[in-house]
Amino acid sequence: MPQPKTPRLAFALAVLSLLPALRAADSETAPVETAAQHDARMAWWRQARFGMFIHWGIYSVPAGTWQGKPVPGIGEWIMNKGKIPVADYEAFAKQFNPVKFDADAWVALAKAAGMKYIVITAKHHDGFAMYRSAVDPYNIYDATPFHRDPLKELAAACLRQGMKLGFYYSQSQDWHAPGASAIGGHWDPARQDGDMDAYLRTKSVPQVRELLTNYQPFPAVLWFDTPTELMTRERAELFLPLLREHPQVIWNNRLGGGFQGDTETPEQRIPPKGIPGRDWETCMTINDTWGYKSYDHDFKSTATLLRNLIDIASKGGNYLLNVGPTSEGVIPAPEAERLRQVGAWLAVNGEAIYGTGPTLFGDEDGAFSPTEKDAKGQPKFIPAWEWRCTTKPGRVYLHLFAWPEGPFRLHGVKFRVARAYLLADPRRAPLGVSQHGGELALTLPKEAPDPIASVVCLETE
Ligand code: GLC
Repeated sequence: MPQPKTPRLAFALAVLSLLPALRAADSETAPVETAAQHDARMAWWRQARFGMFIHWGIYSVPAGTWQGKPVPGIGEWIMNKGKIPVADYEAFAKQFNPVKFDADAWVALAKAAGMKYIVITAKHHDGFAMYRSAVDPYNIYDATPFHRDPLKELAAACLRQGMKLGFYYSQSQDWHAPGASAIGGHWDPARQDGDMDAYLRTKSVPQVRELLTNYQPFPAVLWFDTPTELMTRERAELFLPLLREHPQVIWNNRLGGGFQGDTETPEQRIPPKGIPGRDWETCMTINDTWGYKSYDHDFKSTATLLRNLIDIASKGGNYLLNVGPTSEGVIPAPEAERLRQVGAWLAVNGEAIYGTGPTLFGDEDGAFSPTEKDAKGQPKFIPAWEWRCTTKPGRVYLHLFAWPEGPFRLHGVKFRVARAYLLADPRRAPLGVSQHGGELALTLPKEAPDPIASVVCLETE
């Protein structure tokens, strides 16, 4: 017979057993799930490692230029940066007719890139909904000559092709709705001043409801953005009942009001040591803008994109890589080309990325500079690009960027290697392995099989 517990002890134990279940431990109103339920909900996302971010909206019409002048900054911010009056910006909707949009082709491109999910802007800060919304006629179906709902088409294509689809929604900033936030302040007060609570009640919350209900089984992800100071705790809580009705949806840490959501979202950077204890996803532009700018040709090389993906996987995160389609509905060719190259590498080496765990080592990724400071005054992290490591039960993957002259040597090895081979070798011919204490030496062929990253798989005992 178990000992009867005192009521106080029983209460304390009951409270303790609930602790890991709180998704936002500081809120009584937060949805509750057990740690096991949470892991089950996050499983596909943790497996995925690589997703496509799509910033697409009527900002692709001006494409970075207003009244003949380039507007500095990221393309989807042109309305704000250029202080474009609301009525003038609205006119872009009438010129937006992306007849070349082909949902199946976009999804096929994401697949060819080896991406496992897509997150697309359903409404960005400009307030224009890229789907058919009954809540506000300022949307692609009702306000453009296009008269189609790309999110419906994408949802169908994703279902057909086995891709997860998520929606980005700017819940706090809306430069078209009176009362909503605008970072930097309103510039068209006659159109923009108003009541934030009314905006939330009549547009933001109802549109999030539409997105959560009209595209089933999607969205798999709800990606909030720019929680401004107007997004107080009480206001952010307005979204919680909707999230609770759709408990499978993974949402990020940008709702506001102190809610952490499911994922951290480092932007344009890779956290040097990952984010232990949290699921995280680095979102990054492929050039220097999210939304299309006709003159931004500063595309990252395929080598950079691949190294980023490998670096992120070795630190336990996901890579959400952005593309910015044109106003015709086309993903620019240099972007598509790079994605296909990343996909070709993944077709050979994907088992060293998908569903992997982080490195067993940790110093190979670089070091904090003893002298240099970063923008925040912290010691600057100087990455090293010789190799990275990812893991799976019974497997250690070494991603070699720099091909050594002689054998590849590892120190501090705490496992025994049973077999080693290159993933690029279809025959998987065994590589020479010598192991003494924590020292491991691998004999490699003279030439690297891949000029960017060659992966050695170590099968462990
Ligand atoms: C920023 C920008 C936005 C972009 C987002 C992507 O917060 O405001 O334009 O959508 O980052 O992470």
